[in-house]
Amino acid sequence: MTVLITGGGGFLGAWIIRRLAARGIDLRVFDRRDDRGIVRAIAGGVADRLDWRTGDVASLADVSAAADGCDFAIHLAALLTPACAENPILGAQVNLIGTLNVFEAAKARGMRGIAYASSAGVFGPDDGAIPHPTTHYGAFKLACEGSGRAYWQDAGLSSVGFRPAIVYGPGRETGLTAGPSLACREAVAGRPYTIGYSGRADMIYVDDVAAAFEAAATRPFEGAHAFSLVGEVADVAAIVDGIRANVPGAAVDWSGPPLPLHPVIAPSPIEAVLGALPHTPLADGLARTIGFYRRGVTGEG
Ligand SMILES: NC(=O)c1ccc[n+]([C@@H]2O[C@H](COP(=O)([O-])OP(=O)(O)OC[C@H]3O[C@@H](n4cnc5c(N)ncnc54)[C@H](O)[C@@H]3O)[C@@H](O)[C@H]2O)c1
Repeated sequence: MTVLITGGGGFLGAWIIRRLAARGIDLRVFDRRDDRGIVRAIAGGVADRLDWRTGDVASLADVSAAADGCDFAIHLAALLTPACAENPILGAQVNLIGTLNVFEAAKARGMRGIAYASSAGVFGPDDGAIPHPTTHYGAFKLACEGSGRAYWQDAGLSSVGFRPAIVYGPGRETGLTAGPSLACREAVAGRPYTIGYSGRADMIYVDDVAAAFEAAATRPFEGAHAFSLVGEVADVAAIVDGIRANVPGAAVDWSGPPLPLHPVIAPSPIEAVLGALPHTPLADGLARTIGFYRRGVTGEG
């Protein structure tokens, strides 16, 4: 089996590569750049042996060429919330058209299915159960879920979209919600850091999200699903306390508005479709993240 991973050069991609490579699955990475730094840091030497194609996910020709010979697609390539806010047209080209391109390429090649990154950003600030996005990013992600259902209805192409809120852990360095992970890194380095939001949010450890993608790629499922991935709700003050529990005296604080997504995300019946999945407690996830930056080496455990 060969799995295509769009956006595989990013944070989440690195953790998914680590899991799938450990199972001996052939991987093809598609990303706009050939920068293997995060993948090397998280997955180790496998980074240099990957079949890596560069291209733009907004181009059907690029995606189609990369998809040849693949049996399943994991679709991660996207612009995050700040980039979509800055340039909504480009955001739609990458996040919306890009997703349709992956579905088209998968349909044309008779792939078994697609697992794609949606987001808890589909919910907006007022409700964690009924989607009502207030960002371009969330609006594009919600539209992708609808198209996933249309590809199942029209073409019998199975898909599952995952909606995490804040994904944290080693290697998370960009996007609106990178603050907690960057605070771990900076605390270890002995530098001050201010997390740029306030209030509560759902925090899920990156390897738990990677495990959901691994399950979708390796366990049979049918239909078009969109599942919220729920971790642990935490106030940013509790995150700072959690970091200081590992790094006493760390000069970490926070400042800024609440995030534009509801803190409490309603759980979805994901395990009924994909089976049991890991749930890393926040305290363990923060300790692992800090441990990774302390070691400053590859192969986080
Ligand atoms: N990190 C989170 O907290 C979080 C939360 C919810 C959903 N998500 C979703 O998970 C996915 C992965 O997020 P991440 O945190 O790994 O982000 P990331 O920015 O680290 O990775 C995204 C990757 O996509 C690539 N990419 C961007 N535009 C591209 C294009 N036009 N063509 C080809 N490749 C392109 C980038 O080069 C990058 O390697 C995204 O779809 C994101 O929306 C992330």
